[in-house]
Amino acid sequence: MADEFILRMANITKTFPGVVALDDVKLDVRAGTVHALMGENGAGKSTLMKVLIGMYQKDSGTVTLEGREVEVHDTKGGLNLGISMIHQELSPVPEMTVAENIYLGREPLNRFKLVDKALMRRMAQELFDEWNIPLNPGMQMKALTVASMQLVEIAKAISYDAKVIIMDEPTSAITEREVDLLFAMIRRLRDRGTAIIYISHKMDEIFQIADEVTIFRDGQWVLTQSTAEMTQQSLITAMVGRELTQMFPKEHAEIGEVLLEVKNLNRGRLVKDVSFTLRRGEILGLAGLVGAGRTEVLETIFGVHRAESGEILVDGKPVQIKQPKDAINAGMALLTEDRRATGIMGVLSVRDNMLAAALRRYSPGGFVDAKRLEEAAEEQRKALAIKTPSLDQLIKNLSGGNQQKVLVSRWLLTLPDILMIDEPTRGIDVGAKSEIHRLISTMAKEGKAILMVSSEMPEILGMSDRVLVMHEGEVTGEVPRAEATQDKIMQLATGTEAAA
Ligand SMILES: Nc1ncnc2c1ncn2[C@@H]1O[C@H](COP(=O)(O)OP(=O)(O)OP(=O)(O)O)[C@@H](O)[C@H]1O
Ligand SMILES: [Mg+2]
Repeated sequence: MADEFILRMANITKTFPGVVALDDVKLDVRAGTVHALMGENGAGKSTLMKVLIGMYQKDSGTVTLEGREVEVHDTKGGLNLGISMIHQELSPVPEMTVAENIYLGREPLNRFKLVDKALMRRMAQELFDEWNIPLNPGMQMKALTVASMQLVEIAKAISYDAKVIIMDEPTSAITEREVDLLFAMIRRLRDRGTAIIYISHKMDEIFQIADEVTIFRDGQWVLTQSTAEMTQQSLITAMVGRELTQMFPKEHAEIGEVLLEVKNLNRGRLVKDVSFTLRRGEILGLAGLVGAGRTEVLETIFGVHRAESGEILVDGKPVQIKQPKDAINAGMALLTEDRRATGIMGVLSVRDNMLAAALRRYSPGGFVDAKRLEEAAEEQRKALAIKTPSLDQLIKNLSGGNQQKVLVSRWLLTLPDILMIDEPTRGIDVGAKSEIHRLISTMAKEGKAILMVSSEMPEILGMSDRVLVMHEGEVTGEVPRAEATQDKIMQLATGTEAAA
């Protein structure tokens, strides 16, 4: 039966200079199902979706929607056909409110042909009520956490009443509570007959939510199968083309002297009297729900924000950190969670992005050792398998996961003593993920100290020597590796430990 498929994409090819992003691929999606699209970083997933919504023009191939062949020339055309997309890289307008972001470009007008802000806010509120989204439409976008921005993006996609909704890594920045909310939304949409194309690197999500899965490898179609017929292992093998274990087991490292000590750090309501120590060779996990203050703790230590009070000691000596430069001089590095806003310099090359923070390290006596720099960059590219035609490529042309790898390498190249990493493997495929875990583990073995924020429980449990848990700006507990379980951490994270 041909029309059981709401969407059929056939023989799609798309090339960029030096890259065949899609090589004669297909995608067949049934109405009222969740169809996962999987593959390693750079496999072509986002590119196919951008072709579908009309953001990119395909070189060849056909798109059939509800049995009718369609040509989509721009994103407006895509939306008119009933296709909406939640993008991997969020692009909110920070100065506008939540409601304004949702209805951008299709604002309701009053009789004077002016934007009816009150109506717009009511529409947003109704949408939030209908879908149980705990956000205030009147808030400024820039005041929201990345997780809340992602919820806004999801609400926006739903508000178009689309037949096909594409979600490109919608859970990359949200934790379990919001994931449950999102999955409830997806099931409701599916039961109404909407088709969801779901892109994610998180295996467990795929088996929870997807009915079918299509796998791409290096721009080519590999298979389409019902998830009921697959296992995690068969999925990984199909994706990477070889056997691979999902997690890199943490290696044993000698725990040494205290390297970083944070005493009674305070800043607003998200950093309340935070104290902890971090030793050489140690990986300290920082767990908690989104909005618990984990990122703010990292940013306050690093001098992105000024602390209101508190003390920071490195190697037993108090250090004054007023700005990130001071932190870098004290031997710290910070990999930020919001790579678009604070990490990536889109108009620069992969090389420049990689070397942005390392220059000083490779400039003995003030002279830049260009040859060593180039070698170091090349090494990182190989170690992390960064997929790019060359180091000269603009970073914005890399796939999302490969951009993330470049940022990870930027901080590895500064050879820091204290490495603070916020969601280090967000959006990174299984193969590269275990490679990054291996690198972190090696750094610990070399006597570095690592502070890692992660919303992925297996990553926290698998990598940390100790887990610090935060709830509403406060440290609610500290759990040694041997006692760390998902339950224990969730209790501390939700502030329900006493009751349990
Ligand atoms: N605008 C562009 N210019 C040049 N190359 C591009 C452009 N967009 C994508 N590419 C390249 O096309 C290939 C596929 O990228 P795509 O973003 O589709 O990967 P992906 O499967 O979504 O990966 P990820 O899991 O990392 O998000 C990559 O090699 C990427 O560098
Ligand atoms: Mg992508």
